[in-house]
Order: sequence, then C-alpha cells, then structure tokens
Amino acid sequence: EMTNTEVGQPTTLAAEEMCKQPFVIGVAGGAASGKTTVCDMIIQQLHDQRVVLVNQDSFYHDLTDEELTRVHEYNFDHPDAFDTEQLLCAMEKLRHGQAVDIPNYDFKSYKNVFPARRIVTIRLQKELSVAVSCKYVEGRTIYHFKSSLLGVLDTDRRDLNWIVVNPSDVIILEGILIFHDPRIRELMNMKIFVDTDADVRLARRIRRDIVEKGRDIATVLDQYSKFVKPAFDDFILPTKKYADIIIPRGGDNHVAIDLIVQHIRTKLGQHDMSYLTCFSGSVYCIVVC
Ligand code: ADP
Ligand code: C5P
Repeated sequence: EMTNTEVGQPTTLAAEEMCKQPFVIGVAGGAASGKTTVCDMIIQQLHDQRVVLVNQDSFYHDLTDEELTRVHEYNFDHPDAFDTEQLLCAMEKLRHGQAVDIPNYDFKSYKNVFPARRIVTIRLQKELSVAVSCKYVEGRTIYHFKSSLLGVLDTDRRDLNWIVVNPSDVIILEGILIFHDPRIRELMNMKIFVDTDADVRLARRIRRDIVEKGRDIATVLDQYSKFVKPAFDDFILPTKKYADIIIPRGGDNHVAIDLIVQHIRTKLGQHDMSYLTCFSGSVYCIVVC
C-alpha cells in the first residue's frame, strides 16, 4: 500500500549548517572477528540516526573465467583482491551527494550480485530550493525530486523521477583491509579494529563457511593456512596501529560498543546534521542552498 505525501514550503537553513558530510567510521579486523556483529550493534543503538553500511566485500574484483576454474588458488585476503579505486570513487560520489549502487557480494558464485543497494548521502549545495514529495513502499521512503535536483544528486540517472534515497548521518565502512589504503583511511572520522583471537576466528569461520557458503572443512582449512592466516599477519594485523579504538572480544564487548555509540552521538551533535530534520514530520523537503 502506497501513500503519497506532498510537501509544503521548503525550509531554509543557514548555509554554513548545511554543507556537512556524513560521519565516516571504519571497522577492520580479521575475517570472522565479529566486524559485522559490532556494526549491527552500533547501528541498532544509533536507531534514530540514518546509517549506511558499506562492506569492502562489495568491491572484490570480478574473477576471470580462468581464475574461476582454479578458485582455490585465488587469494581473497590480499589487498589486490579488492578494487580500491572503485571504493574510493563510490565514497567520493557519496561525499558529493551523488547516488552510488553498492552491489551485494555472493560468496557462493564469487560474484557481485544485482540489484544493488542505491545509496545517496544528501549534501546540500548552493542557492537552490527544491521541494520533493515522498511515498512509502515496503517500509522504505522513496523521494520524488524535481529534475533539477536529480542532476545534483544523481548525474547518471536524469531519466528517473523516483529514486530510493538513504540520506545518512553515518557511513560505516567495514572490511578486513579497510585500513590498508591511506586514501580510504583519510576519509574516516573514527577507526575501530575488532580484535579477536585467531582460534576463535578460525572456529567461527569453519562453522560459517560450511553452513553459509556451502564449503567443506578441508577447503576451509586449506584456504586458512595458505592465504587467510599469512594475509592476516602480513596485511591486516599491521593496520591495527591506525585504529583509534581496539575492541577485544568483538560483539561480546558491550562496554566498548556503548562508549563508541556515545562518542558518535557527541560527534554527530558537533558535526551538525541539522538538515536531516527536514525529513522528519509530515513535511518532506530538501533545501539546496
Ligand atoms: P566478520 O564480519 O568479522 O567476518 P561476523 O560478525 O560476521 O564477523 O561473525 C562471524 C561469525 O561468528 C558469524 O557466524 C557470527 O554469527 C559469529 N559471531 C560473531 N560474534 C560472535 C560472538 N560474540 N559470539 C559467538 N558467535 C559470534
Ligand atoms: O566477512 P569477512 O570479513 O569474514 O570476509 C572476508 C573473508 O572472506 C576473507 O578472509 C576471504 O578469505 C573470504 N572470502 C572467501 N570467498 C570469497 C571472497 C572472500 O572465502 N569469494
């Protein structure tokens, strides 16, 4: 059931309050250390903020047919396995208020699958007021933009009138090697490293890869000793020094997660996400100033 809400007059906010960018959090750590669990807990506790989670897995390079035939020899834990340029490009777009399509990675087919999630962080631009209307479809808010704003938000899709928008206060970047490239690190306002013992990570990985990825134990152990453990020692562990916060025991560490959420809330207050108040209540508008 769809409802349409037409907007009232656009609200005007002071220019200096507007052109703010989302708060970017990086979450790194070994595979199966509990990164996703920690991110989910942070998102849950930030229930009144708009948060988008961008997973580094979505930026795995596509495998060639030849690589696919010998997939057990492919190192998915090496920094070169990721298309970091594409991740940078996506972040750049998000920071400039354009839409990006973030695909979901399928560990079974080794491919990124579509439909992708479309993400837009609305960064408000200069001296133009544009009203939008919105409708609700399956729990999501879909905003209707005037075409002039579409040009600002989403240069590739001028033909569309309706797009799904997730304006966000917070972007969480999660992945084993998300601290590896200095250009990505520089985008982060806060860096978290989830520190979980190797035996716990391996035990969780065996269970997860068998149950969720349909792999057998011999393959999992082989991959672990050949690629996962050496890459952790050579590439992931050395990035721990960039972390602002190290969380021992991952999602079990409620105290650490509470403190992190409190800090994010404080920072968001300073960060000024006031334009998002435009989206609350019954009047929906974007003011581009
Ligand atoms: P990552 O994102 O670092 O790979 P996940 O959060 O997905 O790690 O956790 C990996 C696996 O371990 C998942 O199957 C998850 O359910 C399980 N797991 C995560 N944290 C805990 C925990 N504190 N206790 C028990 N199991 C956990
Ligand atoms: O979610 P998590 O951080 O655990 O994902 C990273 C892990 O996924 C890496 O250790 C990598 O070996 C594994 N991986 C895989 N098969 C793929 C892609 C990644 O086993 N096709």
